[in-house]
Amino acid sequence: TILIIDFGSQVTQLIARRLRETGVYCEIHPFQKADEAFARLKPKGVIFSGGPASVPAEGSPRAPQAVFESGVPILGICYGQQVLAHQLGGTVEGGHAAEFGRADIEIREPSALFEGIWKVGGRYPVWMSHGDRVTRLPEGFTVKAVSENAPFAIATDEARRYFTTMFHPEVVHTPDGASLLQNFVHNVVGLARDWTMAAYREEMIGKIRAQVGSGRVICGLSGGVDSAVAAVLIHEAIGDQLTCVFVDHGLMRKGEADQVVSLFRGHYNIPLVHVDASDKFIGELAGVSDPERKRKIIGRLFVEVFEEEAKKIGGAGFLAQGTLYPDVIESVSFSGGPSVTIKSHHNVGGLPERMNMKLVEPLRELFKDEVRALGRELGLPDAFVGRHPFPGPGLAIRCPGEVTPEKLAILREADAIYLDEIRKAGLYDTIWQAFAVLTDVRTVGVMGDGRTYDRVLALRAVTSVDGMTADFYSFDMAFLGRTATRIINEVRGINRVTYDITSKPPGTIEWE
Ligand code: XMP
Repeated sequence: TILIIDFGSQVTQLIARRLRETGVYCEIHPFQKADEAFARLKPKGVIFSGGPASVPAEGSPRAPQAVFESGVPILGICYGQQVLAHQLGGTVEGGHAAEFGRADIEIREPSALFEGIWKVGGRYPVWMSHGDRVTRLPEGFTVKAVSENAPFAIATDEARRYFTTMFHPEVVHTPDGASLLQNFVHNVVGLARDWTMAAYREEMIGKIRAQVGSGRVICGLSGGVDSAVAAVLIHEAIGDQLTCVFVDHGLMRKGEADQVVSLFRGHYNIPLVHVDASDKFIGELAGVSDPERKRKIIGRLFVEVFEEEAKKIGGAGFLAQGTLYPDVIESVSFSGGPSVTIKSHHNVGGLPERMNMKLVEPLRELFKDEVRALGRELGLPDAFVGRHPFPGPGLAIRCPGEVTPEKLAILREADAIYLDEIRKAGLYDTIWQAFAVLTDVRTVGVMGDGRTYDRVLALRAVTSVDGMTADFYSFDMAFLGRTATRIINEVRGINRVTYDITSKPPGTIEWE
């Protein structure tokens, strides 16, 4: 195991991803709790992340002393470099020319950190982002690389196996950064590549059995990848002690509800309760056009319906959830201020306490791409595992204005054509998420010899790594033309198609 101590950098998660990609297990813990995590995990190596604080400032974060005393190799990145240098007796000062963005470093001396990757005398691009800098190195350290504004771009103590970089190896803008991190964990620390999804599957099956014993587990399926993978894994562990509940809110895409049902009942033979609650949802959504009210109604009904079914099943002491690692990582908050709610995402939160159930969360240690890999490992079809994310409130938030059965029907058809064209063009896997939005705007058109007065459909497609930021996808015009023509010809009720070229920020991915 590698322990990553988080000092609050925006990109700490990327360190973990880079390590996991190379088959090494690691955990991120905030500096406030690093002491406890270090004692419990007994890591073979430690990485100090970057962070926004300033080492000379009073009360700024420090690394646990135990890490230095243990003699394990340490890699300090950016703030991590400074805090390491400071704690070992060096000097850190603010007020130097800050370096942000791309810089070239020049290698002065060899180091185990970049052995086989960078050569003495070579110049290599890296990504810097810092204001303070180390002005005097601790005893035992030597400079291995410099840049114009960073005399200690890389400084190390090879004997004690302390390595520090002023730049960020974990971001893609440091092209050799992933190799450096791999080199650190495999060659310096000496860890094997044994973090695989096959190993994880076996380990989790054991853990689920130990946690659940002979108890009963209920798992809410959303139709998405996470809950499906969690359900299949739990079923493998405890068989028919698991019951899945699929609350069908009638806001799924074309054919989607049937796919979920046939996958679970047919392919896996997992006990599944399919609750068709669409009338209830559509009924309560009637006349509501405010996005947050729609979200709240759907979230509340979902919990109500789920709870009702769970009671009918009875006797379940456990609720399974597809919680992922990014939801679990405690964030290091310096400002402490409440963040603004842009959208209230809905999940089954709150249910376990209300119903006095314990949580089974077998994906808590995984990133999204690892969940997909685990899904493939468990035999879920590629087409299912590779599906674009779909929001809990479904098509309701893709019909701005009131949600009606008529609008949903139009949207389903148009969306299916759009996705069909994307698949045919071989673009599905390149795009993070693509969908149609049926607007409430009507415009005048002419079809055949007649006047039409129908709705405007918007197409959206974005690329993203985590959904937090996104860029609109640059289709070629021929693709958009072809898709628009098909939609207008094949779907009644739409006479105009537009393409949304807003990135996030300032837009969000969904329209509501
Ligand atoms: P936004 O629209 O906030 O979306 O840019 C970011 C990602 O989250 C998905 N999304 C949701 N997922 N429940 C979910 O499970 C929700 O209420 C919800 N709202 C948005 C969205 O599809 C995108 O992938």
